[in-house]
Amino acid sequence: MCGIVGYLGARDCTEVLMDGLEKLEYRGYDSAGIAVFENNEIKTVKTRGKLSQMKNKLETEGKPVGHCGIGHTRWATHGEPSDVNSHPHSNGRVTIVHNGIIENYAELKEFLTEQGYTFLSQTDSEAVACLLDYYYSERNPLHAITETLKELRGSYALGIIFKDFPERVYAARRGSPLIVGVGDGESFIASDIPAFLKYTKDYVLLDDDEIVRLDKDGAKFFDLHGLPVKKETQTAEWDVEQAQKCGFPHYMLKEIHEQPEVVQKTLDSLTSEGVPDFSEIGLTDEMLRGVGRVFITACGTAMYAGIVGKYAIEKVARVPVAVEIASEFRYMNPILNAEDLVIVVSQSGETADTKAALELAKSRGAKTLAVVNVKYSAIARLADMCVNTLAGPEIAVASTKAYSVQIVSLYLLAFRFAYARGAISESEMKRLTSLLEQTPQAISRVIERSDECQFAASQLINTETLFFIGRGFDYALSLEGSLKLKEISYIHSEAYAAGELKHGTISLIEQNTPVITIATQRHILEKTISNMEEVKARGAYIIAICRKGTMFAEGSVDLKLELDFGDLDDMLVPLPTVCALQLIAYYSSVLRGNDPDKPRNLAKSVTTE
Ligand code: G6P
Repeated sequence: MCGIVGYLGARDCTEVLMDGLEKLEYRGYDSAGIAVFENNEIKTVKTRGKLSQMKNKLETEGKPVGHCGIGHTRWATHGEPSDVNSHPHSNGRVTIVHNGIIENYAELKEFLTEQGYTFLSQTDSEAVACLLDYYYSERNPLHAITETLKELRGSYALGIIFKDFPERVYAARRGSPLIVGVGDGESFIASDIPAFLKYTKDYVLLDDDEIVRLDKDGAKFFDLHGLPVKKETQTAEWDVEQAQKCGFPHYMLKEIHEQPEVVQKTLDSLTSEGVPDFSEIGLTDEMLRGVGRVFITACGTAMYAGIVGKYAIEKVARVPVAVEIASEFRYMNPILNAEDLVIVVSQSGETADTKAALELAKSRGAKTLAVVNVKYSAIARLADMCVNTLAGPEIAVASTKAYSVQIVSLYLLAFRFAYARGAISESEMKRLTSLLEQTPQAISRVIERSDECQFAASQLINTETLFFIGRGFDYALSLEGSLKLKEISYIHSEAYAAGELKHGTISLIEQNTPVITIATQRHILEKTISNMEEVKARGAYIIAICRKGTMFAEGSVDLKLELDFGDLDDMLVPLPTVCALQLIAYYSSVLRGNDPDKPRNLAKSVTTE
């Protein structure tokens, strides 16, 4: 979704803004723009398209030269991607960039039109620029902002500059992320830390309904009444390197390769003396004993991680778990009570539907637990308890390492749950945890097989549609493998529970339709193989992903990817197996000439519903 940056300091503002926008590219966007004070005048350059187009425009129109300004990457919601709909928006006295959706913009627009304002764009955001101008009087920007915010419905992060104040940047937020970077004699605003990490690691989190003013004295914070607010400065644990490609051609490949390390880190942080330990976040055995039902709610890949979590929790702890898509859960009037535990899973911690699902669960009295990768995110701060996964910054839009650490957290939760409720003994909890400790090596062994994954991908590049099938944990993985492939290769794909294919969709199997069969679960291996044979008999091209040494009847498999899981319990093999699926998706994307890091139409962090 949209990215916001803002800068005030001694550096070349255009350079800082463009660099920051580049770091936010991962969020997904279709146009970009900046507004910079040059000789006390606001100079705006904006265009539809990628930052490379923006750079060309800056070359031809001339780069604004100054030290104060705001920038934006836009992911279109109201109005098509076009030069005029790109941000910043201005009405002369006020120039803004906006992330989020102003729900009452039509009303505001009507009112402002009556007041004599004319609108140039089709965006909801332009109404904010006009409203700020409407309330701006007596050279008092703060008053204009507080009055304007009181009238806005919906979500926003705003970067604002006033023509009369060439050495100030204002910003405000409600519902959309905005972070203030605090440097030495310079300040920043941004949608995410990587945008200013190169200049400072110190940051302040802006909360909902707070306003910040950057001027030569640093950053000052205010509430909706314009009263000063004291804020705490924190230091980012991420370093610049973590947010860079480090020699890999794409972030996605780098992030796939980081999995052994981030899985290990997450394991270390959530275990003590060889067993899962959630006491630090307030999740005690007593609390787990009191849980009646578990709901896991999330979107996209995080939701598919939730399905692995469901299978694991139900298998070992014998507690019923329902996995719900967050955008459905929030509107389906769920039946919840104080004995329910609602787990929300999110990489970004900002996904609007997941956040709304969490708010709903809280309002109904359920206990809430977030599994989140960005520890300063809204969801992390809102949930009663929060497991902070340690994937580090995930820049590629398609999630990889965040998924792995999400499932690691859910496995550990399953083991602790099972122990707390007496479903397994302490020694069994120890044994399962020690098996989980073996997954980083198993993941490394799969990543070493990248060439084979690339070869499998090369068999798919001319296909228009394909299937993933599997049973149990393999079905959960099929869902994620199929999503990953669709997201970045644009090949249509469907994931099916292997036993379900014959109930209809098998009619789509034609000569050479690829069917990726995930067959790692030994207790149902024969069943999965039968389903594979069913499609093979109808002409499918079978790629089988299985445990090393798995035997298939001659001629039933066209390409076999045997993975070495060591002694891993079948329940835990999704961790290494998903890496093979990620690599197949990655290479399919690259071989088809796509940019796997920035798939068309997708956004990394979806802050609209
Ligand atoms: C977007 C991304 C997906 C991601 C989903 C949930 O749709 O494109 O890759 O899985 O949001 O994101 P979250 O940050 O909540 O995990």
